[in-house]
Amino acid sequence: MRTVLVTGGAGFIGSHTCVDLLEHGYETIVVDNYTNSSPTALDRVQKIAGRPLVGYVADLRDRHAMDGVFERHPIDAVIHFAAKKAVGESMRLPIDYYDVNLAGTTSLLRSMQAHGVRKIVFSSSCSIYGDAVRVPLAEEDEARPTNPYARSKWICEQILRDACERYPDLSAIALRYFNPIGAHPSGLLGEVPTGVPNNVVPYLMQVAVGRLERLSVFGGDYATADGTAVRDYIHVLDVVAGHRVAMEHLDDERGLRVLNLGTGVGTSVLQLVNALSEACGRELPYVVADRRPGDVPTLIADPGRAERLWGWRATRGLADMCHDAWRFQRLNPAGYAA
Ligand code: NAD
Ligand code: WQD
Repeated sequence: MRTVLVTGGAGFIGSHTCVDLLEHGYETIVVDNYTNSSPTALDRVQKIAGRPLVGYVADLRDRHAMDGVFERHPIDAVIHFAAKKAVGESMRLPIDYYDVNLAGTTSLLRSMQAHGVRKIVFSSSCSIYGDAVRVPLAEEDEARPTNPYARSKWICEQILRDACERYPDLSAIALRYFNPIGAHPSGLLGEVPTGVPNNVVPYLMQVAVGRLERLSVFGGDYATADGTAVRDYIHVLDVVAGHRVAMEHLDDERGLRVLNLGTGVGTSVLQLVNALSEACGRELPYVVADRRPGDVPTLIADPGRAERLWGWRATRGLADMCHDAWRFQRLNPAGYAA
């Protein structure tokens, strides 16, 4: 396998994945419409990797543009990141979420089919598990998505499953990421959300550089050790490594395979605030506030399947994640804008 199309390659996880693909010798083609990213990310990817990629500004739902990309490059496999991903926004804009996430995926599958491309790695999400009955969560546990974003990811998994059943030469892997955080150790690439961050780490990083005053900890009365919600944070580079391993195993079998990418370690919001404070060298201010609607108390992965099948497991701990996130924020206080 030589040429990989990365949809959403300018985004947080996509950009880090492009560095890894280039460093491992893949010809890397990116399609992104920059609705939640900027071309600067791709400049930095090429700077870190010391190799060029080919980038297209296009919307996945534009079949004509997508067909043009497949016509110009001998694409062997696709890593499909492009999607809208904010849970809260999806409650306000459900039709937008289904349009981008579902129609984007079916448009991509149609172009792949028209050009004989039969391998795809898909970004799924721990959010499809919803309010977990028990943790850690294994892939065979019931999906109970509680918002349009999570449902869109769940439906995409079903689309892939149905497509694989109908077209037996198709090979698809859905990776259910837990909470990817951190940044590239070069300090050149990181997580740069547009507007006020929804996610806890980008929010705390903006507190750390003085762009936001303090974190509101959403809920101090959960049935957890310190009362705050627990998540399975995973270094973005471990998620990236999971993608390369998945790609290398696309040929093993046909059909859809579903795998968690998590660490199996739970961290509460207060533990995270402490770890990031340690990394920044100062106490990050917070106030305990009401629970955020739709949040669940605890999400932790059982990452055993990926280890059993592929020997993949996360290698970086919380301190690495926090140090790398802080290095990026310290060097890029205004994100890529500066
Ligand atoms: P991101 O928003 O940083 O990256 C997504 C990229 O897709 C952006 O660059 C955006 O401009 C692009 N994009 C969006 N719609 C597009 C369209 N119609 N056509 C072309 N490009 C489009 O998000 P991320 O954090 O890198 O997440 C990548 C994928 O992983 C998403 O599918 C997301 O749902 C999934 N995921 C993310 C997390 C997380 O916490 N970051 C967790 C689980 C799953
Ligand atoms: C983490 C914890 C919040 C912000 C979502 C998706 C999941 C995946 C990752 C895409 C929670 C608390 C947050 C704040 C806070 N993405 N928090 N104050 O909600 O666990 O997961 O993003 O697929 O699928 O559901 O991530 O970073 O928003 O929150 O106290 O200002 O931090 O309540 O416990 P979440 P998050």
